[in-house]
Amino acid sequence: KVTNPRFRLHYHLMPPQGWMNDPNGFTYFQGYYHLFYQYHPYGVEWGPMHWGHARSRDLVHWETLPPALAPDSEADESGCFSGSAIVKDDRLFLIYTGHHVPDETHPDDFWQTQNVAVSDDGLHFYKLATNPVISTPPTDNSQHFRDPKVFERDGQYYLTLGSQTAATKTGRALLYRSANLIDWEYQGVITEATERSTAGFMWECPDFFRLNGQDLLVLSPQGIEATAKQNLNLYQTSYVAGQFDFQTLNYRHDELQELDHGHDFYAAQTMLAPDGRRILIGWMDMWEAEFPEQADGWAGAMTLPRELTWRHEQLYMFPVAEVRQLRTKQVLNENWQGTNRELQVPDPQHLELRLHANLTDWQGQQLTLRFQAGEQQLQVTYHKDDHEMVVTRAGRDAQRFAQLRPQEELDLQIWTDTSSVEIFANQGEAVFSERFYPTTSPQVTLQTDLPLAMQITGYNLY
Ligand code: FRU
Repeated sequence: KVTNPRFRLHYHLMPPQGWMNDPNGFTYFQGYYHLFYQYHPYGVEWGPMHWGHARSRDLVHWETLPPALAPDSEADESGCFSGSAIVKDDRLFLIYTGHHVPDETHPDDFWQTQNVAVSDDGLHFYKLATNPVISTPPTDNSQHFRDPKVFERDGQYYLTLGSQTAATKTGRALLYRSANLIDWEYQGVITEATERSTAGFMWECPDFFRLNGQDLLVLSPQGIEATAKQNLNLYQTSYVAGQFDFQTLNYRHDELQELDHGHDFYAAQTMLAPDGRRILIGWMDMWEAEFPEQADGWAGAMTLPRELTWRHEQLYMFPVAEVRQLRTKQVLNENWQGTNRELQVPDPQHLELRLHANLTDWQGQQLTLRFQAGEQQLQVTYHKDDHEMVVTRAGRDAQRFAQLRPQEELDLQIWTDTSSVEIFANQGEAVFSERFYPTTSPQVTLQTDLPLAMQITGYNLY
């Protein structure tokens, strides 16, 4: 049970109690967005995985439903791991990984299968008696074989799976095809890590989709080596973009790019909304994170749902327009001209804040926005000379970085909730997702080295 509400979020999805990790089965069915998630209802730490379940009419008000899946069949006795959903003939199909650990004293000796569960009403799910639908990985694969993401293309169903090449212990994404979602045929490798250090030993949660003429693979690689300013989390969420040929499986694509530059973002999943938007949601945490909310009986949260677009040869992510419904009252609207100043914002923990500056005439170099609550501090800095954004968090392994395109304007939009801050630069060109645990109401300050004219608007939310 939740014993203390101090860190409970107001407009982000989180578990009713217990532990949450990856988003699963993000889909639209019979008038509702459905979102499932890796869920351990009986503890505040990761454990035998269930699928938690919530639904929403508008992507911002979520209704908690009973868990959809529990590890209670022979095809998933040690856990119902991550997976996805698709609608076929007005039925909702969940495709998920069954986790199998024959001897609990050796949790690393596991095997994994792919299973299906079906629902007619979006509330009750039954697992196929014939599970698993994919019982073994390709012969050159290791035991890591999970996180099916299903999609439809040209009247066929496909799924991509996260996996690892046995010989080289490097990550890769596999492709399967089916006419009926039950009988799956292995097609081959979509793409794989060529070098372990730069692309990881295992790729989790791949998601393959087309957006604005690009074939995009979003994935969560484990074990990429950090450089000075990139890949600084324990695990990353990345993407590649290019052109994929479904006949030859030839995928011409660029290098891996970081998808979100913050401390707390992993295992993202997308869905295609009825109006054609590609919407992404991620786990707003990281495996190595501390979870202060565990003391209160729960752990983990999702990011805001974000619309993806392809612009200037990269992915942009920006909160879906529906989030604006949460505005209650405008608390800031001013043309600000100055250097250092404390921004008086009522309820800075439930805030949509927008700073918009024209940089052309600004002689200064640095702009900093700081949230301070006792020991807790989160600082967002923009450096004009190299167009770099830096997010610094006191008490957590220092800084995260993102490079912006050279521009004459800077637009920062920030959404704060009780224990989170999400920062969007230039309408989603660079994004930082952060958990932030203030025990007093934060003070918000703005500093520049030389005066800068800026339009500031702010709304309280929820
Ligand atoms: C990613 C992940 C997935 C797996 C799930 C288990 O965070 O490790 O690969 O299916 O979590 O909870």
